[in-house]
Amino acid sequence: MAVYLVTGAAGFIGANYVHRLLEWEPDAQVIAVDYIGFAGNMTNVAAVIDRIVFEQADIADLAAMEALYRAHRPDFVVNFAAESHNDRAIVGPSAFMRSNALGAQVMAECSRLVPVKSHVHVSTIEVYGELPPSEPWFTERSPLNAKTPYSASKAAGDQMVRAYMATYPAMNIRLTHCANNFGPYQLPEKLIPLAVTNVLRGRKVPVYGDGLQSRDWLHVTDHCDAVHKVLHADLGPIPRAAATDPGLLPIFDISARHEVTNLEIAHLVVTALGLEPSEWIEHIEDRPNHDRRYVINPEKLETELGWRPTHQFETAMAETVRWYRDNRDWWEQVIAAKGELAFDWSQVAPAAMN
Ligand SMILES: NC(=O)c1ccc[n+]([C@@H]2O[C@H](COP(=O)([O-])OP(=O)(O)OC[C@H]3O[C@@H](n4cnc5c(N)ncnc54)[C@H](O)[C@@H]3O)[C@@H](O)[C@H]2O)c1
Repeated sequence: MAVYLVTGAAGFIGANYVHRLLEWEPDAQVIAVDYIGFAGNMTNVAAVIDRIVFEQADIADLAAMEALYRAHRPDFVVNFAAESHNDRAIVGPSAFMRSNALGAQVMAECSRLVPVKSHVHVSTIEVYGELPPSEPWFTERSPLNAKTPYSASKAAGDQMVRAYMATYPAMNIRLTHCANNFGPYQLPEKLIPLAVTNVLRGRKVPVYGDGLQSRDWLHVTDHCDAVHKVLHADLGPIPRAAATDPGLLPIFDISARHEVTNLEIAHLVVTALGLEPSEWIEHIEDRPNHDRRYVINPEKLETELGWRPTHQFETAMAETVRWYRDNRDWWEQVIAAKGELAFDWSQVAPAAMN
């Protein structure tokens, strides 16, 4: 019976992965790790709590994580744990560096000290920075060009994982970069659940600036399937040429090639709830340093590992809106526990801190 250690398991994508893993492998032993930060919710894994071992721990704490590895001896590790909200990273970057950079290194170090069969570090399209309008997409060969506190902390983690890959090739450590995810159990302060839960409470959908920031969207279960494929892929040794060509490293970009603006997302949500977008969408001050556009190319994952997304975007969006409509108890409890966000961006400038 395989032992999986999944971090960030009480967050959005980690919880979806744990649910899916138990469908694929009902006998798997799942060690679910989370420190239950502002984005972690035990209710996300409540339906499977009797089938997992839950460990509340900080992935940036080497002694705690090494002890967990030695106690459970995982075969497979997936590191989803991260601080993930760009807006919050602007207000307080330090927690992001700790979880996303130091945490990535500590997890890699544990898999070196207590060897595993394979380890996937989950990262994001955002490490590539902003895509110019003239370019079709990023690929695994694109330089890391992160420019927000969130994406820079993830890029720092990525660099460390790449260093482990190259320095300790026997470790079987892999890295993924995924497009924006949508689906059940996403924290209600993120764009799609925020839009749905606002409208269901009689509030307008806030859209930053002109709303023409463009994102690449993928259903969360397609992301989970891709991560699982990467985790179990028989990839062979890393070639020498990878030293100067990151496209040859065990790095996979994940996307359904589905580019949508934030304004279009707001329109889709409002119309799915049977309302008129012009009455239910309001434009608010943009956040500082907001990436304008990003899209990535999943061709390597498709050709080398045979992965394909299974969700059609419009249908999956309609199902997602229905999920939040039908699971009001879930998001009301989350909002009651975590509170709601309202940023005054003038307060994040250095002068305002004095
Ligand atoms: N949401 C997206 O659209 C998206 C897209 C691409 C990649 N990703 C990546 O996927 C991963 C999961 O994202 P998500 O959307 O589920 O985020 P999330 O914020 O919903 O969940 C992250 C979870 O990690 C936990 N966590 C954070 N720091 C921790 C620490 N130091 N120790 C233990 N637990 C910790 C949090 O408590 C939370 O439960 C992240 O690495 C993120 O960068 C997310």
